[in-house]
This record gives sequence, C-alpha cells and structure tokens, in this order.
Amino acid sequence: MNTWADADPDPPLDFHRRLPGYAITRLVEAPRLATLLGVGSVVVKDETSRFGLPSFKILGASWATYAALRETLGPVPDSDLTPQMLKEWALPARPLTLVAATDGNHGRAVARVANWFGLEARIFVPPFVSETRRRAIIDEGAELVVVDGNYDAAVDAALEDGGMQGRLLISDTARSASDAVPQMVSAGYTTAFLEVEAQLCADDREDLDAIGIQAGVGGLAAAATVWARRPHSGRRANVVVAEPEDAASVFAAVASGQPQTVAATTPTAMAVLQCGTVSLTAFPLLAAGVSCCVALEDKWSLAAVAEMGSCGVDTGPSGAAGLAGLMAGLRGAFAGPVREHLDLGTRSRVLCVATEAAAASAFSSDELIL
Ligand SMILES: Cc1ncc(COP(=O)(O)O)c(C=O)c1O
Repeated sequence: MNTWADADPDPPLDFHRRLPGYAITRLVEAPRLATLLGVGSVVVKDETSRFGLPSFKILGASWATYAALRETLGPVPDSDLTPQMLKEWALPARPLTLVAATDGNHGRAVARVANWFGLEARIFVPPFVSETRRRAIIDEGAELVVVDGNYDAAVDAALEDGGMQGRLLISDTARSASDAVPQMVSAGYTTAFLEVEAQLCADDREDLDAIGIQAGVGGLAAAATVWARRPHSGRRANVVVAEPEDAASVFAAVASGQPQTVAATTPTAMAVLQCGTVSLTAFPLLAAGVSCCVALEDKWSLAAVAEMGSCGVDTGPSGAAGLAGLMAGLRGAFAGPVREHLDLGTRSRVLCVATEAAAASAFSSDELIL
C-alpha cells in the first residue's frame, strides 16, 4: 500500500511557506546537552512557536485540512496567501465544522485553522485536560466538548461526531490503516524536519546519528522516522521514541508487533502525550523504523525541562520528553547496551525537538498536581 511516506515531501513545506505568518523555527546548538548525553553534538529544533501557536501541531492540522478541502475545492492560488485569500477559497465549503479530539495542542491548532478558512470547530477533550488548555481552545472560537473517560474516549466521540453531515473530521490519529487525514497530519509535520535538513546543510553538517522524539499517538514520531530513513542522508539516524510510562502505546505496539491499547489513566506531567492507542497509520512506519522505545517516569521529563531551559529553550515536560528519552536511555540503568545499540559515541550528532512552549503546558500549576 502506498502511503504519504512514499510521496514527495515538498508539497506540505511549499504550502506552509506560502501561508501568512510562516517563519522557519530555530535550530539551537546545545553543547551542554552533548556533554550530558556523552555525544559530539546535540541540536534542538525549537517548535515552541509555530504560526503564533505554542506547538508544532498546526503544521499537521493545516496541511491535513487543506488537503481534505482541496479534493472538492481544487488548489489554493499559486502565490503567497493572505488571510482574505484563504477565506475566499474556502467559501464554497461553508457551512462546515472541523471536528477533532485532543489532549490540548491538536485541538487548538484545528480551531485556529478553522478560523483561517472561515469555518467552525468542535473539539472533544478528556476531563484531565487543564483549564489553561481548555481556555486556549475556546479562545480560538471553538466549541469545546468534554467527554467522560480518557483520550481514547474523546477520539471515539470525535469520530462519531465528525461523520455527521456538515462536519469534517481532522483527526491526528487513525483507527484504520487507510485513514487519509491522519496520514496528511503526519505529512504536515515533515515541514519541521525538512527545515532541520536545510539548517544542517547550511552549516555543512547534514548527518545525524540519532533523533529523540516524543510520542502521543505516534504521528510526529512517524514523520521523524520517515525523514530519518530517507535516502538523502549519508547515514540513517536511529530513532528513539519517548512516552510517559503509563501511556507507552508505541512501545507496547513495537514490542509486540501489533497495535495495543494501554491504560493511559495515570496523571503525568507529560499531559499531551497521555494517549493509550497508537495511530494505525503511524504504526507500520514506527514498527519498521524505530530503534528504541523508552517509557518515561516524570522525573526524567522534569530534568529534561531544566536542561532545555539551560540551553535557552523554554519548554514543558511533553516538549522536553524526546530529550528525556535520550537521557533515560543514555544515563539510566541500561546506558551501556542502549549506547551500543544506538551506536552513539563522542563524535555522534543528535537531534531533539522541543515540541511545545512551557507556557502552553502550564505544568507548574495544574498539571503537576498529580
Ligand atoms: C507538545 C506535543 N508533543 C508531542 C506530541 C506527540 O505527537 P503525536 O500525538 O503525533 O505522537 C503532541 C501531541 O499532541 C504534543 O502536543
């Protein structure tokens, strides 16, 4: 089966570049993290601000929504896009409500994209989503629906609602391996990695040896995996996936060779990674390409927040979880075998992605009261 992973990765980047407010996010050289991990260098892709929102998620939500609408509306004008042009282009699709389930960031991003296109948004959240995150979604003008149960229950509710007349489901997770929208969400995330590629190239240091990437449903990790394995790079970077210990659905799926649902009910500081079921469109890519999975205790993500802060990256526990996975792997109980398995030494180059701003997580107030 052909997937987005086989397609040309440039279209999402071309689209994002033409949107109002596009700016390449910075790649931070972090020598202190290199010393901490015992490698040659560490670079951090700073996704704490994208299109004015405090996480990378809008890359996926915007590309997936555009790709879905384009099927009936045709492509947007082939030039730089203004807010007015986006609304005019989407006018024939109205009235239309974008529907999504979220732990926080995806729903906020879908609500923002609905605004761009002059559409409505209806966002389903589980009860553990903090007041700060709920308020941020409502402030985008979306209708917020709180669903009894965990994140998976919110996904089910959104799936049902999104199938109704006048609705368009923009899900970042798939319950079927052929779901098109979650694939487009992952394809949208590749923009961040293609920027990294250009940034590394500009400094004459293309090769990467490992990527520490955090996972909720695995859509971002799938994009990282596909990118790491593309033939462009001199060598293929090993992908290390990090998740909260009670919501390690990628770990469970990769270890057993089939998708599993895990509890995902224990509160964690990594709140937006608290997802119990791996996305079925991400799963085959992860199963084929991930080198190592780490199920994290909160203490590692909190330590990683401090380390990111000391490198000038102001992120929260979910945003620092990729680094936390590398720290736990390379400094924890199995450091020796993990280092050997990943083939990492003092000349290796490693990438982490800070996926959200500290302010978005508000982890020091509500989410950390465990
Ligand atoms: C800040 C942040 N980092 C990482 C992720 C993980 O992305 P995915 O659910 O695609 O695995 C999420 C998902 O919502 C997120 O909000």
